Amino acid sequence: MGKITLDIERYDPDKKAQFFQSFQIPWEKRDMTVLEGLFYIQENMDDSLSFRTSCRSAVCGSCAMHINGQHRLACNTLFSVLKTNKVTIRPLAHLPVQKDLCVDMSPFWEKYEKTMPYLMPGSPPPEEERIQSEGQRAEIDVVIDCIQCACCYSSCPVTLTSKDYLGPAALLKIDRFLKDSRDEAKGKRLETADSPFGVWRCHNVYNCQRSCPKKLDPPRSIVNIKRGILGKELRP
Ligand code: FES
Repeated sequence: MGKITLDIERYDPDKKAQFFQSFQIPWEKRDMTVLEGLFYIQENMDDSLSFRTSCRSAVCGSCAMHINGQHRLACNTLFSVLKTNKVTIRPLAHLPVQKDLCVDMSPFWEKYEKTMPYLMPGSPPPEEERIQSEGQRAEIDVVIDCIQCACCYSSCPVTLTSKDYLGPAALLKIDRFLKDSRDEAKGKRLETADSPFGVWRCHNVYNCQRSCPKKLDPPRSIVNIKRGILGKELRP
């Protein structure tokens, strides 16, 4: 099926050197993914190439990277979809690069933790489980699929200029619990979102919406949170 050229932005932490390196790999099958291309390089050409992966099923979020100008998951990006046999790959932006395509996710997780990303029911657990109706469950369907890949964080210009900004994924998580019928910490959550580095820092650029591999809509969540802060009815 021909050859594919991968131009990969690499970083050598020992030499503190950032550089591009080109690899030409065989296009082995029609449904070959970018992740398979990276593995080909690691196994056959340069075993020092570093990248993260785990599930290979677009579930864990660890293989997020910048591929031909867009944030994508390497494990579910087919070369055939890119419609070119020249592919440029860079690590996620706005996060410190550790080596090659591996970034330090600490700033992302620190902000995520601030949102208290767990259920706070405010009453002792029932004997069996906290039941939701189908309608109540459907309310969180639209926000529950976040895989914490940080594509939105990396594409947001505000996370670059305001280092304490919570960022789209963290704010989406706040909305996820605001929408959850079992959660009783809505006041606390709105307080976090109303901080100087919460929703009001968003500049409505919409990069987060465009870059989300799960087609989630953080700007919609941000508007919803703003409504909550202003005492208006929350939207589904
Ligand atoms: S390896 Fe898990 S999302 Fe790609």
